[in-house]
Amino acid sequence: MTSAGFEPIETASRDEIAGLQTERLAWSLRHAYANVPHYRAAFDAAHVHPDDFRSLDDLAKFPFTSKHDLRATYPFGMFAVPREKLARLHASSGTTGQPTVVGYTARDLETWAGLVARSLFAAGVRPGMLVHNAYGYGLFTGGLGLHAGAERLGCTVVPVSGGMTERQVRLIADFRPDAISITPSYMLSLLDEFHRQGLDPRASSLKIGVFGAEPWTNAMRREIEAGFAMDAVDIYGLSEVMGPGVANECIETKDGPVIWEDHFYPEVIDPDTGAVLPEGELGELVFTTLTKEGMPVIRYRTRDLTRLLPGTARTMRRMEKVTGRSDDMVVVRGVNLFPTQIEEHLLASDVLTGHYLIVLTRAGRMDEVTVQVEHQPHVTDYDRLHAESLAVARRIKDTVGLTLVVSIEKPGTIERSIGKARRVHDKRGIA
Ligand code: DLL
Repeated sequence: MTSAGFEPIETASRDEIAGLQTERLAWSLRHAYANVPHYRAAFDAAHVHPDDFRSLDDLAKFPFTSKHDLRATYPFGMFAVPREKLARLHASSGTTGQPTVVGYTARDLETWAGLVARSLFAAGVRPGMLVHNAYGYGLFTGGLGLHAGAERLGCTVVPVSGGMTERQVRLIADFRPDAISITPSYMLSLLDEFHRQGLDPRASSLKIGVFGAEPWTNAMRREIEAGFAMDAVDIYGLSEVMGPGVANECIETKDGPVIWEDHFYPEVIDPDTGAVLPEGELGELVFTTLTKEGMPVIRYRTRDLTRLLPGTARTMRRMEKVTGRSDDMVVVRGVNLFPTQIEEHLLASDVLTGHYLIVLTRAGRMDEVTVQVEHQPHVTDYDRLHAESLAVARRIKDTVGLTLVVSIEKPGTIERSIGKARRVHDKRGIA
């Protein structure tokens, strides 16, 4: 670390970063090709060899990797080292089918802890702070990933994990943490619980929140920052690439996560054609790992939609806050809809909350959309709530182009998640 507290590479020149990336990419391609039969077969089929990589532009010649490839090689087929050399496994929840398994060598775990420590530092967390970690512990990378990084930075970590909301609030009141790491949707549940227990969330000890694992909007950021009188900072990552800490926002700018480009090489592609898009254009984010030993990934398609942006607080490039995943996009009457587009409008209203669910049904051949959203507990004027539901539906119609019904629900009626929120309930397939 420098005296400013961050590592020299975070503010190295672009040339220096590109030089390091080129060197590391050449290693990573060779490592994958030599040790993972899937990559050898995929490179051979595409008639490319690691020797064909000489400069960063050459990466575009190499084939993409998708979640499908990880499933097809389940459980251990993507590992580049013998299983005994792995220090830890994690896995995705597998709600949509087979789980995907990822593996880390001891050195990978070191790198990961270092990058999460770097992320927390960027978020404003400092050695000696107390960190309440409410990401789930277990196969999910959130809990253990944040835990190791906070320890590495020199913080005191409280490994609370997700759930038992009443106890979460009690521990925050008693232990007085400086920072919290948690999904933004679950943070809103804590906000309600503070009020339920008669505690003022703005008077809590929390100064910084490190939020990620699901898409969240700047409107949600404002809601949380105002609710708790804290700074809300975005942490991004995915298990296939490492876990939390692939990118992290800087507290001084809050202008989208900085990608830790010395370990992950980002590209944004057109999801339909696979063409690499210029900086600034919206598309699907793709990552190649530069240093991972246990499970290198080459041009992994994240399904996350964003754009690459130039560096601000660091020389490394940023990604725009993720608006959604291509998997979360629902197509209703020909209109593409992301839950975050709805969220912006709900939270722009001062009588509504961030507890919402988008329900899709089919009446005859017509798709119908109902947005269920809880109102603020202190608002009991039903005429006002009704008028607001019509006004919000109109604003959504004007901006997103979709006619829908906004159904205002009583506080506490929409199912809470203790981790990643489920925002869409698609009942169209059900007769
Ligand atoms: O969610 C890792 C993580 C844990 C990140 C804790 C941040 C904090 P997965 O379960 O593999 O890993 O899910 C990865 O979650 O591809 C995105 O779609 C979404 N995601 C993660 N962070 C963000 C974020 C973890 N900050 C998937 N903004 C990713 C938007 C996010 N989406």
